[in-house]
Amino acid sequence: MRVLVTAGPTYEPLDPVRFIGNHSTGKMGYALAEAFAAEGAGVTLVSGPTSLPDPANPRITTQRVQTADEMYAAAAAVAPEADIWVFAAAVADYKPSQAAENKIKKDGDTLTLELVKNVDIAGTLGHTKRPEQYSVGFALETNNEQAYALDKLRRKNFDLVVLNSLRDAGAGFRHDTNKVSLLEAGGQTTIFELKPKTAVARDIVETVLARYSRHA
Ligand code: CTP
Ligand code: CA
Repeated sequence: MRVLVTAGPTYEPLDPVRFIGNHSTGKMGYALAEAFAAEGAGVTLVSGPTSLPDPANPRITTQRVQTADEMYAAAAAVAPEADIWVFAAAVADYKPSQAAENKIKKDGDTLTLELVKNVDIAGTLGHTKRPEQYSVGFALETNNEQAYALDKLRRKNFDLVVLNSLRDAGAGFRHDTNKVSLLEAGGQTTIFELKPKTAVARDIVETVLARYSRHA
C-alpha cells in the first residue's frame, strides 16, 4: 500500500525575504502520515514549511517544498504510483503574480499586490485518478459546511472529504484537537467527537483503509 500525503502551508514569495502564506502547523497531515505508516503503508509526505521534524518512521519519505507549484510538482510525481491520496495541505489559494527580484522598499503609503490563482493540486490530480485509486480531501468551512464540503468532493473527485467546522470550540488550525465529519461520495456521513489530532488521524485512516479494501 502506497500513500501520498500533502501537509502544511505553502509560502508564496513576494520578494527574497517575504511571502504570502497561512496558519497551518502541518500536525494533521504529519499525524496522518504516521497513522498510515503504523498500518504498514509506505508514505510519501510532501510538506510545506513547518516547524515539525521529518517523521522518524522509515516507512515515511518526507519531501520539503515551499510553494504550491513545488508541492504540485512533488505530488504529481508520486500520485500515479500511490494507491491512496490524502490532501491535508493548506495550500495558498493565490500567489503574487511575480516575485520581486530584490527586497521591496517601503516607498509609498500604500502597496497594491497583484495575486494570481494557484494550481489546485487535489483538483488537477483528481482528473487523473484511476478507478482503483482513492482520494481524500479536507474542507475547513465556517458556514454552509456540508454543502461546500460536498461541492469540493464532487469538483475534486474525492472519494471522501474530511470536514472541519470552525464553529466547534477546540477544533481547527490553532488547536491540537479536532472535530471532524467524514463525508463520502456514496452519501454516507460519519461524525466524530472532539479528539487529539493523532486520534483523529487514526479514525480517518481506519475509515479510509476499510473503504479502500472494498473499493474498485
Ligand atoms: N487544495 C489543493 N490545492 C489548492 C487548494 C486546495 O490541493 N490549491 C486541497 C486542500 O488540500 C484540501 C481541499 O483541496 O484537501 C480543499 O481545500 P480548500 O481550501 O477548502 O478548497 P478550495 O478549493 O481552495 O476552496 P476555498 O478555499 O475557496 O473554500
Ligand atoms: Ca483554499
